[in-house]
Amino acid sequence: MTIQWFPGHMAKAKREVTEKLKLIDIVFELVDARIPISSRNPLIDEIVANKPRIILLNKADMADPDVTKQWIDFFAAQQIDAIAIDSQSGTGVKQMVAVAKEKLRPKFEKMIAKGIKRPRAMRALIVGIPNVGKSTLINRLAGKHIAKTGDTPGVTKAQQWIKVGKELELLDTPGILWPKFEDEEVGYKLATTGAIKDTILNLQDVAVYALRFLSTHYPDRLKERYALADIPEDIVQLFDDIGKKRGCLAAGGVVDYDKVAELVLRDIRTEKLGRLSFDRL
Ligand code: G4P
Repeated sequence: MTIQWFPGHMAKAKREVTEKLKLIDIVFELVDARIPISSRNPLIDEIVANKPRIILLNKADMADPDVTKQWIDFFAAQQIDAIAIDSQSGTGVKQMVAVAKEKLRPKFEKMIAKGIKRPRAMRALIVGIPNVGKSTLINRLAGKHIAKTGDTPGVTKAQQWIKVGKELELLDTPGILWPKFEDEEVGYKLATTGAIKDTILNLQDVAVYALRFLSTHYPDRLKERYALADIPEDIVQLFDDIGKKRGCLAAGGVVDYDKVAELVLRDIRTEKLGRLSFDRL
């Protein structure tokens, strides 16, 4: 994230998204498939209010597929449309357009019934927290590279519609919303997945969180990656074991905990421990 979110920024971001909502038929709410709840904006329901909405679990290529399936079922049970996508490769993107069309069918049928022979294309807005993949998805849908405007609310430029086939038009600037800061665990999950900058939270604290999480949910992958015979209960011991195995040492041969933290987080973010999901049902 490139900016600090102060109450003033949040109010402004909310205002800007609310303005954009007036122009559109449907909202694509982008979340990170690895943390589909922690990467949601806390006020999203209030902000989007009555507009039809589809939740897109982006970066599904990095998330644990079994857990992603559970989340899709979880949303479906609440009559919420949710689709797993990968904006980089384009997986799931066709499905998202098809689901949007289906969702808006009644509205467009009404327009036809009123005598509008050729209803216009559906108009959509992508919203989400920074780094969730909004620009990547817009570029994927546009089929070309559109410059990123930056994560700064208030940076305005003339808005344009991007045509996606005949049936969909997309606002070329996404709605940028802030994540949930108040909850400590949410903060660690956002940091672990790289959604927020490493300077915001203490790196060793984030790595402690991540290693504890892996010990509980993915112990075999942790053992395999760092050639551990078993996982010590004591977290300092675990840092020591990984540090010694991977040569994260400071002068005098003592384990450098910052280096261990950096290594583990880099490994997680580059999928060296496989596909991981941190929000669990
Ligand atoms: P934003 O507009 O919401 O702020 O996010 P942006 O599209 O800039 O994406 C943030 C990072 O997430 C980018 O990586 C992007 O490539 C990556 N990303 C987006 N969607 C997906 C996806 O579906 N799967 C995977 N694996 N990655 C995705 P980056 O490291 O910041 O930049 P770069 O590597 O693309 O240069």
